[in-house]
Amino acid sequence: MSTFVVVGLQYGDEGKGKITDVLSAKSDFVVRFQGGDNAGHTVYVGEEKFVLHLLPSGVLQCKGKCIIANGVVVNPKSFIKEINQIESKGLKTDHVFISKRAHVIMPYHILLDTYREEEKGGTEIGTTKKGIGPCYEDKIARVGIRMVDLLNPEILREKIEKNLKLKNALFEKYFEKEPLDVDAIYNEFVSLGQQLKDRIVDTEVELNDAIKAGKNILFEGAQALMLDIDFGTYPFVTSSSPSTGGVCAGAGVPPTALKNLIGVSKAYTTRVGNGPFPSELDNELGEQIRKVGHEFGATTGRPRRTGWLDLVSLKHACMINGINNLVITKLDVLSGIKPLKIVTHYKTEDGKLIDYFTSSTTKLYDYEPIYQELEGWDEDITKARSYDDLPINAKKYIEFIEKYLGINVYLVSVGPERTQNIIRKELF
Ligand code: GDP
Ligand code: IMO
Ligand code: MG
Repeated sequence: MSTFVVVGLQYGDEGKGKITDVLSAKSDFVVRFQGGDNAGHTVYVGEEKFVLHLLPSGVLQCKGKCIIANGVVVNPKSFIKEINQIESKGLKTDHVFISKRAHVIMPYHILLDTYREEEKGGTEIGTTKKGIGPCYEDKIARVGIRMVDLLNPEILREKIEKNLKLKNALFEKYFEKEPLDVDAIYNEFVSLGQQLKDRIVDTEVELNDAIKAGKNILFEGAQALMLDIDFGTYPFVTSSSPSTGGVCAGAGVPPTALKNLIGVSKAYTTRVGNGPFPSELDNELGEQIRKVGHEFGATTGRPRRTGWLDLVSLKHACMINGINNLVITKLDVLSGIKPLKIVTHYKTEDGKLIDYFTSSTTKLYDYEPIYQELEGWDEDITKARSYDDLPINAKKYIEFIEKYLGINVYLVSVGPERTQNIIRKELF
């Protein structure tokens, strides 16, 4: 009985949802601790596809509770839509709760996100336009609206009025757009609060009691380390801390409680949205990987940029997260690509070879990635279920990653379906 944290190590979409789903079958709690409905976590159960945005992917299998903790930013309309979708497929959702402390994504956050991106004309971040950044800004500026406020109409009205004073001035005077109406927003959000009132609860005491009682608790990260507000490719990042460290502030649990730190990486790299991507394959091979790997955003449908695996950035991600168990997904997508390349170093503009990630995002555009070539394999590996079912060159690929990072790969994923896994060590 222990705690498990699943985080992304690249630019998101590593297959965290699939791994969380697998682990959640034995979990008493599954907890989202950051991000919001910018996430898109896909789980295949047989032929049936589920895409979770705000709900923890554990909702499908967890027999205990699913918690959206204080660090998440919640769009209540998205929440209700997702709950309805899941229920329409015959699944129960009465085990899903939201922290009273979680901040609410308001209509003005979504508009701000959208208007700002539109205004940038070529330098945009490429956000999901879900209002994530503006909602976290208000949280930090101490003017945010929290889930608990939806249950107190008087406070809610006061906060909406205060917020709209400033936001409407911005909409009208700076963006030259229509202002928003206090009454309309107030009525809508009082009603949303009433619809959700039985699910809005305190979560931190229950979680800490569960840790003390030795329950299995799974923390599900959204986004990934290279999109981290501090350690990613700033400013082309999201507005939260999708790291294992983010769990403590985002769920109210102490660092000493976190035991199994599971980092998920694809066998190659993808990125959706703008920003540097040193190993990007902006060519036919990149297109082939996009096609075979179905690399299109689960939230926005945008084509994902594709490229080789980058061990320099992966090492950075494992260091910040303290990863002690690796998961490599989508190894099956590399079948037939020969040779394969993996980034081991960057060459700086003055010819120096470095193997650490830089804080200077602009420099990344000038660094030349230095590759190690590996032979590759032709076999279809989607039916492999034990490590020895893999071709020798697929094993060499995995072992090259392990040796470089000094961390064991405990699970290799060879297809999107929940059972397409090679599990090398049972974690619980
Ligand atoms: P997440 O955001 O990290 O949960 O990942 P997404 O769900 O956005 O994107 C991962 C995509 O890859 C989804 O469509 C998954 O169904 C799919 N997937 C996950 N693992 C594998 C795998 O091992 N092989 C293949 N071919 N697809 C996978
Ligand atoms: P999951 O959980 C991939 C990217 C956006 C954009 C940047 C900022 O499915 O891995 P935001 O809307 O968060 O302000 O956008 O972050 N992004 C993701 N990319 N997967 C995600 O989530 C992402 N969530 C945000 O494309 O570049
Ligand atoms: Mg995703």
